[in-house]
Amino acid sequence: AAALQGYAEFARPQTAELLRILSLDKPYVRAHDDYLCYRDEAGDEVEVLDIAGGYGSLILGHNHPELRRLAISQLRQEMPTHAQMSIRGEAGLLCRDLDAELHAATGRHFVITLGNSGAEAVEAAAKHARMAQLARLDAFAEQVERRLARIRAAEAAAKRLGGTLELILDGHAHTSFDAFAAAVRASNARAVVAAAPRFLAAQGAFHGKTMGALALTHKPLFRDPFLRGGTETNFFDWQRLSADPAAAHALVAAGAYTLILPGTVVDGRVTCQHETFNAYAALFLEPIQGEAGVIPVPPEAAMALVAAVRAAGVPVVVDEIQTGFYRTGALLASSRMGLVGDYYLLGKSLGGGLAKIAACAVTREHYLPRFGLLHTSTNVEDDPSCGIARKALVIARQLGDAVQARGGQLRAGFEALRTRYPQVIRDVRGEGLMLGIAFADMKLRQSYGLQLLARSGYMGYVLAGHLLHEHGIRVAPALAASTVIRIQPSAYIKATEIERVLAAFDQLCRIVDNEDIYKLIEF
Ligand code: F0G
Repeated sequence: AAALQGYAEFARPQTAELLRILSLDKPYVRAHDDYLCYRDEAGDEVEVLDIAGGYGSLILGHNHPELRRLAISQLRQEMPTHAQMSIRGEAGLLCRDLDAELHAATGRHFVITLGNSGAEAVEAAAKHARMAQLARLDAFAEQVERRLARIRAAEAAAKRLGGTLELILDGHAHTSFDAFAAAVRASNARAVVAAAPRFLAAQGAFHGKTMGALALTHKPLFRDPFLRGGTETNFFDWQRLSADPAAAHALVAAGAYTLILPGTVVDGRVTCQHETFNAYAALFLEPIQGEAGVIPVPPEAAMALVAAVRAAGVPVVVDEIQTGFYRTGALLASSRMGLVGDYYLLGKSLGGGLAKIAACAVTREHYLPRFGLLHTSTNVEDDPSCGIARKALVIARQLGDAVQARGGQLRAGFEALRTRYPQVIRDVRGEGLMLGIAFADMKLRQSYGLQLLARSGYMGYVLAGHLLHEHGIRVAPALAASTVIRIQPSAYIKATEIERVLAAFDQLCRIVDNEDIYKLIEF
């Protein structure tokens, strides 16, 4: 009760109120495998089968025994947590191991920036991509100035001999160096200002909620209170890209602009070239959009877009924070789909369900060494978290087959339910142990109560409350699509537990199909 009051009064008043209304207001006190435990009024522990799985953070389940043993031994040996400005041993080993795994999946090598959360890994990628874009512009501006300096010297030499240079810019011949240089600089400055730097991301994208990550997150509900009218990201529509093969090129071309590079002096004459740049600092993409409702990207459109973006010299950031770390059976969901990126982001399960850690891996060709000097944070790269993540990697890489088998069993079961209740379950989506069960729109059902529930936008939460109270099963709707229930258990979920989940959903579907709304909301 004290915990509840503390949370409601001093932590998140509105969230606590909402959880109370939805009867989801349980303080869990213990967790293991796929179970969370709360205490009932009598003080006895009640176990709940946890299918929400930390929103995808628990591919190894809660408190994995090997990771617990490791954490305890770390404390016993007084492993340092804070040793900034030193060689961080476990961080070095973790990044080396992550590079080896990423290399096996992509054939490329990486330099890896660690973070404390998924949003922070997104932040690192966005900052790095922006830094690279600015570095290219700076290098170009220096090249322009070097060329201008040479032209100025050539003009001075020509003047001493009583001659002039012909300086041609956009068909116009300047005879004074100063006018020519001013025109080149002004034209380039105008072009750079006009091409406001931005990112490219998909409609429905979710990349986290710090200011930087939020700029890449699509849903107005999350963005608008903080970033209204922001133009930092152009959000494209995967469906439109799918329908029109030329759309990917048009999308990338929309960011293209040219800058002027003066040539060298040839026979008293200077002409200019144009070099193409792109306003997009990076494309961010999720192989399967999780929070949007477990929506896999259309593979052909994704391949076409990635190819067009990379051809324009714009890096591709593959956000595998939710899909990665064996959630779909492989280290990267993108490599299973044949998608190639330049940066990869991992988070969630990387910490083995115990540590808060995320990673932004940038290919060696793209990595800017100066970034590591500039992008730092107090809590990052701590030995305990890195040690746990390293062990989690060793454990998780053996689970690919289990993920496929369990995912297959869940999928087949839910497909059978969809066949049985076509009016209730509209779609079963996803890969491996990242499934989304899309419930049909109930707004037009006979029952007024069901209509009301559907209109409230809380349908998924009501279904979650019912499953929790009637069946002791914890599920979570997708944040942006609350009629999609996400199924993200650990790779250790047992066949019997899957049967239990399917039986509970069967009963739930029957209630909804019969429009027995009172059975949904009374517990
Ligand atoms: N990227 C993706 C693809 C995510 O799904 C999330 C979080 C983040 C980044 C941000 O990570 O929360 O550690 O800062 N997704 C959760 C969800 C919250 O509900 O899908 P974070």
